[in-house]
Amino acid sequence: MVRQRQYKHSAGLLLEKGYVGKGSKLLKGNKGHSFSKIGDAGMCGFYFVEEQTTFVVMNRRYQVPLDDLNTFHIHALAESMIYLTNLEECKALFADQNLLEEIHFIGGGSNILLTEDIKGLTVLNQLKGKSVIHETDDEVHVKFMSGENWHECVLWCVENNLGGIENLSLIPGTIGAAPIQNIGAYGVELKDVFVTLEAIDVNTGAVHVFSNAECEFGYRDSIFKHKVKGQYFILSVTLSLSKQHVCHTEYGMIAEELQKMGVEKPDIRSVSDAVIKIRSSKLPNPDHIGNAGSFFKNPIVTQEHFQSLKIHYPDLPSYPVEEGIKVPAAWLIEHSGPSSNQSWKGYRRGDCGVHERQALVLVNYGEASGKEILELSTRIITSVQQRFNILLEREVNVW
Ligand code: EPU
Repeated sequence: MVRQRQYKHSAGLLLEKGYVGKGSKLLKGNKGHSFSKIGDAGMCGFYFVEEQTTFVVMNRRYQVPLDDLNTFHIHALAESMIYLTNLEECKALFADQNLLEEIHFIGGGSNILLTEDIKGLTVLNQLKGKSVIHETDDEVHVKFMSGENWHECVLWCVENNLGGIENLSLIPGTIGAAPIQNIGAYGVELKDVFVTLEAIDVNTGAVHVFSNAECEFGYRDSIFKHKVKGQYFILSVTLSLSKQHVCHTEYGMIAEELQKMGVEKPDIRSVSDAVIKIRSSKLPNPDHIGNAGSFFKNPIVTQEHFQSLKIHYPDLPSYPVEEGIKVPAAWLIEHSGPSSNQSWKGYRRGDCGVHERQALVLVNYGEASGKEILELSTRIITSVQQRFNILLEREVNVW
């Protein structure tokens, strides 16, 4: 199949912008004349790019402002950006072994803190689509393309009576980002419903399928954060969703919220509504106040360490887990501060601060820079360590 697209640019500019690639023919529209030297920047006018089946048109731009592509709304520029909208583009991009630049991938931009402009190539994931690939009386396997918005997919599942991810409502970000940190909330983690994911090796262009076990999921963790960090670009994620639902309402806040809503027999819709209500009341909406959700992970301490802390801080909440005792970072942050008589919770300096309703969330009230937010996070880490001898780890990726 041969498709044609029309561009009004010089041939050289088209080439530089990435509209023209291998296997393409650049034709001057009005004469239908084909150019062998497509790099000739002197030729201006309307051009028809004739796309052979092998040809891929990629949209590449330079010095792209990232303010609306990160939920902290930090001002920074991407030196160059490619917008990936289909699999052919992904394969063409990663098969190009001349691509020696450092690559950064952006999905929903909800788990990054930009401390400087991004050099080299940034790839914006705009792969969209969902399809049912397997169905029985009890479950449906749905394959979601990685550029889909996570929350919209949750709502789509609820709408189509597919259960399993309703507790993960309103989590910002994309489908593709979800497995990287094994997103979790209100007693459910992605790994509970995850079947497989398809990812492309950025060094070879080969597509690999990862099973649940191969992803090595842990608390806010997966193989994509360690062993194979930066090696794969996630194309799609397949989830197993239920037709016969088991609602997870054991997390205290959900039960309370459902009661307030007057729900006696919870279903996936009411659970999703309850989660949306809880999150909206406690977590700032990134469209209004820049933030990236939980900035730190909840630390896990040893039983001995926990017992010694309990002597001085009897109210310290705790959740036993396999590796030890998990304590809420939000509590530790709330109970330490910039000075002995001040809490971090609600702290603000300039345009950056700690949210007043959830101490785990750092916020940009307007013009804060990534460096300022990073510096605040370092001050918090130091003060929590001094008071509780616990080293907080950032959940957000610092770029
Ligand atoms: N707490 C405080 N001060 C605060 C907030 C909370 O002391 O300002 C204490 C309370 O004792 C509360 C406990 O922390 O009972 C736990 O709080 P919450 O249920 O709000 O959960 P979290 O531990 O702060 C985690 C996830 C959230 C997820 C919620 C609900 C992490 C790092 N964060 O937060 O995930 O929504 O549980 O399941 O595990 C995210 O990752 O962006 C995120 C929001």
